[in-house]
Amino acid sequence: MTTNTENLWVFALATKCNFFNPINSMLFALILSFVWFIINMIYWTHPGGPAWGKYNKLTKYLLVKNPIPGPKGFPFIGSMYMMTGLAHQKIANMAEFFKAKRLMSFSLGETRFIVTCNHVVAKEILNSTAFVARPVNESAYGLMFDRAIGFAPYGVYWRTLRKIASTHMFCPKQIKASESQRFEIAKQMVAIFNGSEEGLRVRDVVKKASLNNMMCSVFGRKYSLVDYFNDETEEVSELVDEGYDLLGILNWSDHLPWLAEFDPQKIKYRCERLVPKVNRLVGRIIDEHRAQPSNVHRDFVDVLLSLQGVEALSDSDMIAVLWEMIFRGSDTVAILIEWILARMVLHPDVQSKVQEEVDRITERSRSVMESDVTNMVYLQSVVNEVLRLHPPGPLLAWARLAIEDTTVDGYHVPAGTTAMVNMWAITRSEEVWNEPLEFKPERFMNQTEPVIFSVLGSDLRLAPFGSGRRSCPGKTLGLTTVTFWVASLLQEFEFGTTDGSKTVDLSEVLRLSCEMKTPLMVKVQPRNLTN
Ligand code: HEM
Repeated sequence: MTTNTENLWVFALATKCNFFNPINSMLFALILSFVWFIINMIYWTHPGGPAWGKYNKLTKYLLVKNPIPGPKGFPFIGSMYMMTGLAHQKIANMAEFFKAKRLMSFSLGETRFIVTCNHVVAKEILNSTAFVARPVNESAYGLMFDRAIGFAPYGVYWRTLRKIASTHMFCPKQIKASESQRFEIAKQMVAIFNGSEEGLRVRDVVKKASLNNMMCSVFGRKYSLVDYFNDETEEVSELVDEGYDLLGILNWSDHLPWLAEFDPQKIKYRCERLVPKVNRLVGRIIDEHRAQPSNVHRDFVDVLLSLQGVEALSDSDMIAVLWEMIFRGSDTVAILIEWILARMVLHPDVQSKVQEEVDRITERSRSVMESDVTNMVYLQSVVNEVLRLHPPGPLLAWARLAIEDTTVDGYHVPAGTTAMVNMWAITRSEEVWNEPLEFKPERFMNQTEPVIFSVLGSDLRLAPFGSGRRSCPGKTLGLTTVTFWVASLLQEFEFGTTDGSKTVDLSEVLRLSCEMKTPLMVKVQPRNLTN
């Protein structure tokens, strides 16, 4: 591609030449614009839209024999409209329309995309050695996430971070070590629900609970949910909300680079305001840990500070990694619990069955413990069924980027293409699931033995945590937290609507994760456990 600087010779020549009087110059500019417009219209006619057209025209072969089907969208901008609002639903409809559920191409401005709504092709993409990077957008850079696990380029640095996190945060021993902290938070949630005669917005409680949980694991900070309001958690909560918002917005400048200068959505501006606040807060916590190192109750800051040699991280890298953990670990867990409780309210029969299982295992004589959860096959099936119908990341949250030319489902996919998996469409597909829109936890129960379908990425019919090298490292921790907290709440209360009706609004809103559009309000009835 020629750069603007390379094109300047045309104008230099023009100034030297008498032919270029003002009228002729204008005519010349007009002709150039016209040619440019026509070229872009030709790009646009390509299946998948302008970015695919540009690639295929520029790479010698004028007519690709077997282009990936997909919408053209609009000239220049491609299918930007498809990624606004409930993008997972729009993509699923479009793939149906183009008969391209296995693989569909589309363009967002100058960015080439492929997306699959098929579990076999999803496995091919997610487990491919080509799709091991992530497209780093302006807000991810702006918020330092390119130095944290999720957006770090595939290579030594990313591998080191994943190894550190797996060893010191996500391994079974570490998850067990933080059990008492989750138990304590569960008790505090129960206390809050107990004091809510008029009804309660579930989101308010579970968001604070999961933020407190991550603050404890990562920073070693312990706060009580009951007297929650303190400056530090409030500050972190505001920073997380702002970061969450920024990463969830479709940034036009990411796909139309000429817009970046103007920052039309004020994303760059907001990132620049947020980052110093994050640096100050996390930097202060790191300094405190340096001043008072702890070998007894080691949190993740202690772990990062103790790294030596090639593993040692700079302060700014440490801030990025810690910030990402708080960020990723809080909202996903809270959103999933809200969906589960919504389903419990909507399906009282299922709620009763979970309660029967909890009562049977705890013999109605003690509080549920985290170790009980492995025996709660029905509860795990309920969690799976909610993950199937309401995956928090319907497009698997963050896409993958091809680092080399590759083939997907028989089609050539060039390096630099962004790939997405529409998990929402897969989990609602009639080709994969029987009566996919029905809420039936039993579908996950093996009638003969207590084996539960694994949602951890081996079977792409339901892989809400992704799959392959870049799958979610926090999946076991996330699932353990969610399942244990739901068991603890259902042991203590019957959940119902505030007005006694049997309806719950299950509409979705897609931000960084897919949340309930109308926050769930519940009224709880304490269960009499002595009977
Ligand atoms: C219900 C809870 C959660 C869900 C549904 C979820 C979902 C996901 C998904 C779909 C991905 C992308 C996977 C892929 O590209 O194949 C991901 C990545 C990631 N998640 Fe989670 N997650 C959850 C909890 C957590 C927790 C608790 C943490 C950490 C405290 C965490 C940390 C991460 C990180 C660091 C990545 C990036 C991995 C990489 O790029 O190497 N997640 N998660």
